[in-house]
Amino acid sequence: MYYPDELIEEIRMKNDIVDVISGYVRLQKKGGSYFGLCPFHNEKSPSFSVSPTKQMYYCFGCGAGGNVFTFLREYEHYSFIEAVQELAKRAGVELPNIAYTEEMKQKESRRARLLEANKEAAKYFYYLLRGKDGETGLKYLHGRELSDETIHKFGLGFSSKYSDDLTKYLKGKGFPDDILKEVGLSTIDEKMGIHDKFWNRVMFPIQDLNHRVIGFGGRVLGDAKPKYLNSPETPIFDKSKNLYGMNFARTSRAGNFILCEGYMDVISMHQAGFTQAVASLGTAFTSGQAYLLSKYTKDVILSYDSDEAGTKAALRAIGILKEAGMRGRVLNLEPYKDPDEFIKALGKDAFQKRLDEAENSFFFELKILERGYDLKDPERKTAFHREIARKICTFPEEVERENYIEAVAERYHIGFESLRSMVRTEAGRTGLVSEAVRPKSGIHKKPTREENEKKTQRMLITAIADKPALFKVASKYVSPSDFTVDLYRQVAERLFDDLAQDKWNPAAIVDLFEDEEEQREVASLFHTELLGPEDAADRAKAFKDILIGVKSASLEKSSASLGSDIQAITQAVAAKKALEELKKISIDTFNI
Ligand code: GTP
Ligand code: MN
Repeated sequence: MYYPDELIEEIRMKNDIVDVISGYVRLQKKGGSYFGLCPFHNEKSPSFSVSPTKQMYYCFGCGAGGNVFTFLREYEHYSFIEAVQELAKRAGVELPNIAYTEEMKQKESRRARLLEANKEAAKYFYYLLRGKDGETGLKYLHGRELSDETIHKFGLGFSSKYSDDLTKYLKGKGFPDDILKEVGLSTIDEKMGIHDKFWNRVMFPIQDLNHRVIGFGGRVLGDAKPKYLNSPETPIFDKSKNLYGMNFARTSRAGNFILCEGYMDVISMHQAGFTQAVASLGTAFTSGQAYLLSKYTKDVILSYDSDEAGTKAALRAIGILKEAGMRGRVLNLEPYKDPDEFIKALGKDAFQKRLDEAENSFFFELKILERGYDLKDPERKTAFHREIARKICTFPEEVERENYIEAVAERYHIGFESLRSMVRTEAGRTGLVSEAVRPKSGIHKKPTREENEKKTQRMLITAIADKPALFKVASKYVSPSDFTVDLYRQVAERLFDDLAQDKWNPAAIVDLFEDEEEQREVASLFHTELLGPEDAADRAKAFKDILIGVKSASLEKSSASLGSDIQAITQAVAAKKALEELKKISIDTFNI
C-alpha cells in the first residue's frame, strides 16, 4: 500500500458510507441502520444493512461486508488503490502524485502488475474474437451453441495465429518481459526468444471471486492436441483455491453447487440458467476448493465424466467433501458424457430433473464398489454385504447408521435385521464405531473445543462492538493476547487500543485485512447483535460467562505450554487470579 494510513483514513472519513452506497442501492432507515436489497446476491426482501455509526455494510443474506473501500472493490471490481482514488476524487481530497514515480513502481505490488497484464490480455483477446482475425474462433463458439450474451458474460476471447502478437501488444503497453513470463502469458526460449503461450485458441479468462482475471484456459478449434492449454500457477493464480465460474456461482440462489470438470460445461450450464455451476481448474478437486464452496452451501452435486477416470475423480471428490463437512450427491447424465452434451441434447428441464434425482454419494460409492463383486456367487455376495456394513460403520451417528441400514437393506434386498447385525459385528471387529472415526469436520459432530473457543472469542468481540460501554470492565480481565484465533486477536488489539483512547472506528479495522474474505468476517463480527436473553440480568450473566470462557481457555493454553520460565509463570498466576476474581464479581457490573 503506497498511500499513508492517515490519508486513507481521511478519505474514508470524508466519504460517508450511507451516502456512497445510496448511489448504488436504495436504502431505507430502520432504527439506527439503513436497509436495502443486497447488490451482491438476488433477493426480494432487504437483508443488506449499512451502519452509519460503524461505517460498515453487511448482508445478512450472503455475508458480503466491509467498509466503503470494500464496497467499491466488490461492486465496481476496483483494486484497493482504485477505490481509494475514486473516493478521494469524490471527497475532493488531493492525492500525492506518486503514480509515475520510480519509488511507486518499486513499491507497487508485483501482484497488481500481474493482474493488470492479465486484464489487458483478456481485453485484447476479447477484442480479437470480434475482429477479422477472430472469425474462426467466434464461429467455433457459435457452433457450440453459445449465445453472444454468454460469450460476453464469460469474457471469452481469441488468441491470434501469430505467435508473438500478444507479447508485442503488451510490451507496447509497457509490460516488461519478466512480468509477461511470470504471469504465464509469454514463454522465453533460446531459439524463438520471447513469444506467446497461447495462439490460435479460443480463450477462457479465469476469474477470482471479484472478477479479476487470474489466469487463462485456451482451447484449440479442432481436434489437435493438447486440447487445452492452461496458465501455470503464478503468484496470482492458485489453482487449488479457485474454481472456474465461482465469481458468478457464489450469488446463485440454487442452494447447491454443481461441480464439474470443464470450462465448457460451466458455461453451457450457466447459459441454461444453472448459474450454480463451477469447475476445478484442469486439476483434481482440492480441500481448498471444498472450503471455498462450504462457505456458501453444504450441498454439492458432482458431475464428472462417467468413464473410469471420471469415476475415480468423483470418488476422491466425495471424500474431500465429506472431510469439509459437506454433502455430496452424484449426477447421472447417461447416456451423455458431460453436462454440455446433455443440455444440448435434452434441454434444461431434463437437466433439472436429473439434478433433482442426483443420488446420495454413499449409494454412488456402493454402485462402484458393486462392480468388483460377482453377486451370483453367494460367497462374493456375502463379502459385498460385509463391505457395505463396514462402510456404514464409518457414519458417526447412531441414527445415521440406522437410516443407512434401512435404505441399503431396501435397495439391495438384504434383510434389515441381518444387515443390522452385520453392521454390529463389523463394528465390534474393526472397532470402527467410535468417537475416533468421526470425520474431521462432519456435519453431525459436536463442536470441538477449538470451535467453542473460537465462538466464545467471536461473541466477546461482537458484544463489545455492540455495546462499547462493556469494554471498561471487560478489559480489566481480558486482553487481546487472550484471543487465540489470529484474526480475532488482530481485531481485538485494534479495538481495545481504540476504545482505551475513547475512539470508535470499526471501519478502520477492516483495512487491517487485505483479503476480502477476512474483511467480510470482520464486518460480520461488527454486525451481529448480542442476541439472547431478554432479561438484563440474564444478558449480564451471559456476558460474564463469555469473559470467563475466553479467559479460562487462554489460561489453559498458556499453562499447557509453560516451561520453567519465571516470567511466564508469574503471568499465568496473574491470569489465574484475574479469572478467580472474574468468577466472583457481581453481574451488576455489566449493565446491558
Ligand atoms: P470440450 O471438449 O471443449 O467440451 O471441453 P471440456 O470442458 O468438456 O473438456 P474435458 O471434459 O475434455 O476436460 C475437462 C477439463 O480438463 C478442461 O476444461 C480443462 O481444464 C482440462 N483439460 C482437458 N484437456 C486438457 C489438456 O489437453 N491439457 C490440459 N492441461 N488440460 C486439459
Ligand atoms: Mn465437453
